[in-house]
Amino acid sequence: MSSAMGQKGGLPFLLMFLYMLLPLCDCHPPGWSMRSMAAARTVSNHTARKVSDIAAEVAGYADVAKQIIDLAVFGAAQNRSYKRLADFTDTIGNRVSGSHNLEMAIKYMYNAIAQDGLYVHLEPVKIPHWVRGKESAEMILPRAKGLAILGLGSSVGTPPEGIEAEVLVVESFEELKRRASEAVGRIVVFNQPFVSYGETVAYRAYGASEAAKLGAVATLIRSITPYSINSPHTGWQDYQDGVKRIPTACITVEDAELMWRMAQRGQSIVVRLTMGAKTLPDADSFNTVVEITGWQHPEQVVLLSGHLDSWDVGQGAMDDGGGAMISWEALSLIKDLGLRPRRTLRTVLWTAEEQGGIGAQQYYNLHKVNMSNFDLVMESDLGTFTPVGLQFTGSDAARKVMEEVVKLLAPINTTKLETNGEGTDISPWMQAGVPGASLHVADSRYFWFHHTEGDTMTVQDPQDMNLCSALWAVVAYVVADLEDMLPR
Ligand SMILES: *[C@@H]1O[C@H](CO)[C@@H](O)[C@H](O)[C@H]1NC(C)=O
Ligand SMILES: *[C@@H]1O[C@H](CO)[C@@H](O)[C@H](O)[C@H]1NC(C)=O
Ligand SMILES: *[C@@H]1O[C@H](CO)[C@@H](O)[C@H](O)[C@H]1NC(C)=O
Ligand SMILES: *[C@@H]1O[C@H](CO)[C@@H](O)[C@H](O)[C@H]1NC(C)=O
Ligand SMILES: [Zn+2]
Repeated sequence: MSSAMGQKGGLPFLLMFLYMLLPLCDCHPPGWSMRSMAAARTVSNHTARKVSDIAAEVAGYADVAKQIIDLAVFGAAQNRSYKRLADFTDTIGNRVSGSHNLEMAIKYMYNAIAQDGLYVHLEPVKIPHWVRGKESAEMILPRAKGLAILGLGSSVGTPPEGIEAEVLVVESFEELKRRASEAVGRIVVFNQPFVSYGETVAYRAYGASEAAKLGAVATLIRSITPYSINSPHTGWQDYQDGVKRIPTACITVEDAELMWRMAQRGQSIVVRLTMGAKTLPDADSFNTVVEITGWQHPEQVVLLSGHLDSWDVGQGAMDDGGGAMISWEALSLIKDLGLRPRRTLRTVLWTAEEQGGIGAQQYYNLHKVNMSNFDLVMESDLGTFTPVGLQFTGSDAARKVMEEVVKLLAPINTTKLETNGEGTDISPWMQAGVPGASLHVADSRYFWFHHTEGDTMTVQDPQDMNLCSALWAVVAYVVADLEDMLPR
């Protein structure tokens, strides 16, 4: 145990740490019915079984799936995941890697989950500790105008008096290369069009180093979003080794377009940028792990997940409070129904996802020795709006099984099994061949709010979260209770 943790966390954290060291125990409340044990079918034969057998086996879960859905959508658990999320994010607020708020968030969730009667423990992780500090930007020429900015995670700051320089506006990396000689001593403004998050985010991630290579003194990057009401979006950025580290921030779509139009007219633009950002030594943190231990194969695991950390703006309700809450809610629903599957259901609430999946990478490195026992890994990190279907990565044989499982979601109209399970935090497992699934929701507005002050409870809807929770719980429970693990 590091002394830093004792200093920062005090007694409650110390107790949590000791609890963490206890051997895994079966801490379920007494009185759970062993429904699935009573229903245990004949001993499994792990050689290939016929698709029709599996279809019949999965169809046998229609009643239990209906019970889970009824509880989550119409019953006593209606709106519970929304209320839990509201209480959590209203109480804690946002929780960036390394912050006191993130520590408070983990304590809050640990206590809330323990009070819910689920077994919870913490696994330590060292995480980055970047702080934004005070920051501002203003256009000085051709006219005075304040610019809304958000510095990017891992950016260096400016000198205290700021950096004042003429601006070069470009629309692409290609244009920057063509105009390399004009970048020297300038603040480079990237006004790249939004194509898709996956493609356009390269400007946020690599813009600073690409401009610094040509002698730029700072970069201001158009926020990575398809829609804007003058809101800057933050996010992680990556300095390249051996390249000068220059301050970098995102500006709004509106201001990027404004400066581009001015530049087109041949007007000279001067901006002053002041950023107090700095990186402190790595901080102590934890992945939060919740379990319902399997009755027959406790060592085999279906993993559900979302991340507890967020950016230091808004409330982190959508990214990814919602994903974390439905991953807890799924286990609550199963517990409340007195269900216990053959295999272990394990919810992991990752830490420091926003800094590049730090908590998840640590978890993978530590637990990959048991890779063959990971049945399915699941992640929700693209919002908990109206669910549309399940995205899945796995072998054709595994897909056949999952196609049957999603049929159980007919009562909530989400029977679609799609390709490409995704998520920063489960990708190491999927790359190693473990089947992976992610929640697909009606996410057309997700990147409007992503990493902004607008990511608050106001974008969340209780009924949508009920549906997401139901889907998540049915898929996890049924896969964890089937006779056989998903084929690789
Ligand atoms: C499993 O099935 C295979 C192929 O049908 C058969 O050869 C084997 O004896 C079975 N094993 C058990 C334990 O039932
Ligand atoms: C759940 O939320 C919906 C929509 O806001 C509301 O109509 C309903 O009364 C709520 N139910 C409970 C039990 O809070
Ligand atoms: C691997 O699995 C075994 C059996 O469940 C367990 O005892 C052990 O703690 C696991 N190791 C890790 C690093 O998760
Ligand atoms: C599913 O679709 C049916 C038919 O359109 C509709 O009646 C029902 O309300 C829907 N259920 C949910 C939970 O959206
Ligand atoms: Zn996220």
